Amino acid sequence: MKVKVWRGSITEVKADAVIINLFEGVKRPGGATGAVDQALGGAISRLAEAGELTGQEKEAVVVYSLGRLPATKVVVAGLGPSSGFDLEGVRRAAGWAMKAAARGGCRTVATIVHGAGIAGLEAGAAAEATVIGSLLASYSFRELKSAKESAPHGVEELIVVEHNETKIPAVEAGVRHGQVLAEATALARNLVNRPAKLITPTALAEVAANIARQGLELEVLEKADCERLGMGAFLSVARGSDEPAKLIVLRYRPSEGRAAGGPLAFVGKGLTFDSGGISLKAGEGMEAMKADMAGGAAVLGAMQAVAGLKPAVEVIAVVPATENMPSGHAARPGDVVRAMNGKTIEIISTDAEGRMILADAVAYARSLGAKRLVDLATLTGACVVALGNVRAGLFANDDRLATEVEEAAAKAGEKVWRMPLDREYRDLLKSDVAEIKNSGGRPGGAITGAHFIGEFAGDSPWVHLDIAGLALTSTEQAHTPKGATGFGVRTLAWLAESAK
Ligand code: BES
Ligand code: MN
Ligand code: ZN
Repeated sequence: MKVKVWRGSITEVKADAVIINLFEGVKRPGGATGAVDQALGGAISRLAEAGELTGQEKEAVVVYSLGRLPATKVVVAGLGPSSGFDLEGVRRAAGWAMKAAARGGCRTVATIVHGAGIAGLEAGAAAEATVIGSLLASYSFRELKSAKESAPHGVEELIVVEHNETKIPAVEAGVRHGQVLAEATALARNLVNRPAKLITPTALAEVAANIARQGLELEVLEKADCERLGMGAFLSVARGSDEPAKLIVLRYRPSEGRAAGGPLAFVGKGLTFDSGGISLKAGEGMEAMKADMAGGAAVLGAMQAVAGLKPAVEVIAVVPATENMPSGHAARPGDVVRAMNGKTIEIISTDAEGRMILADAVAYARSLGAKRLVDLATLTGACVVALGNVRAGLFANDDRLATEVEEAAAKAGEKVWRMPLDREYRDLLKSDVAEIKNSGGRPGGAITGAHFIGEFAGDSPWVHLDIAGLALTSTEQAHTPKGATGFGVRTLAWLAESAK
């Protein structure tokens, strides 16, 4: 979608629809909404008095302007109660309103910056949230539908209207930032929504090569390279599949003002299909395991954003990509393999494969000079049991990095929750025959999974985000349709930008 900033009044902009807003309970709106109300001869306040326009969240009432405005229609977005209104409220209101405009066949939509008026949010941040909510709500995955079933068109152009000249630079910066983040999120969603037969490790490497064209370095390690490096954990997972595994590395080097603290690494689980391997999963719902590369997709999306935003910190992305399949070549429960860092691992379950591929990926990121590590993975069903589909589990061996990731997630509007990593949980991974085993059983399953990865991060500051419950949504949300969410892209991008 094209996005531009236009300086002027919302009552003067030409578009198929203009989007204004209303807080819950307001009967006589002021600001931009008041100006439109006046131009419409009081239609909006009449609807509010009659209780047909309440300002509740999710509400998007469409009114025809009948020639009283250059725009054909007006969409009034409900902001919900004014107390506690925040940037997520902006994103949601923008999302519902854009969907209402799209349903009505609008191609060009103008919107005010939600939240920058009486709500008092900073103009740049409010503009960014307006754009992110609008663009993410307009996302749909239709590439595998026939032309007939796919919508004839969506909104093609979004015009962000700001009448206050002094706010224009902030609005412009916010709009651009929002557009970069929304496009990066859409990229991640596409990768996750595509079936595993299309998004193979090879295809993921090609996507990475495309992103690299925007000014990043690319390295793709093949099986032979991984063998030479001693990545026995990663390779043990790949053995059962006919699809060649790839260890994808993207590197961003800032041209100026290198941040202190050294390179930041993003490591994403790129399991393109998780059947469980010899420890085969139950059949029901297995199709969701095409999304087991959501961590890797988020890392690739974040690197596209990094390429566009050019933060001051060096960023190394590592995405181990493979399928987990059963076959006569597959690894067996009871096998012992040696990871890149020399540690021996007893495979208890071949379905605990994410930690295996991340073990070598984390070790490799450190060998490239990464000083701080953040991994994202659809790692455990146990994390879904613990936190449901609302918050991702955050595990860390370093309070400072944990806080930085929490702050980045808050800016992104992505919810995380810090989980414990007591040593007692690590004891559950003691093996009789090797240095560690890959499953500690059901108790504390998300925590033991995290501990396993932490073993390979060693003394490097490290955060692990278990996004198993967040990669897909089964219900349509304000700016997230059913299917892939793109969770994590914006948190990682904000983290890179906040590094000083
Ligand atoms: N990819 C799964 C985790 C998962 C489950 C992601 C549900 C999304 C939704 C992971 O590889 C897995 O199978 N984990 C096992 C670990 C166990 C064998 C220790 C699990 O959670 O059961
Ligand atoms: Mn698994
Ligand atoms: Zn998995």
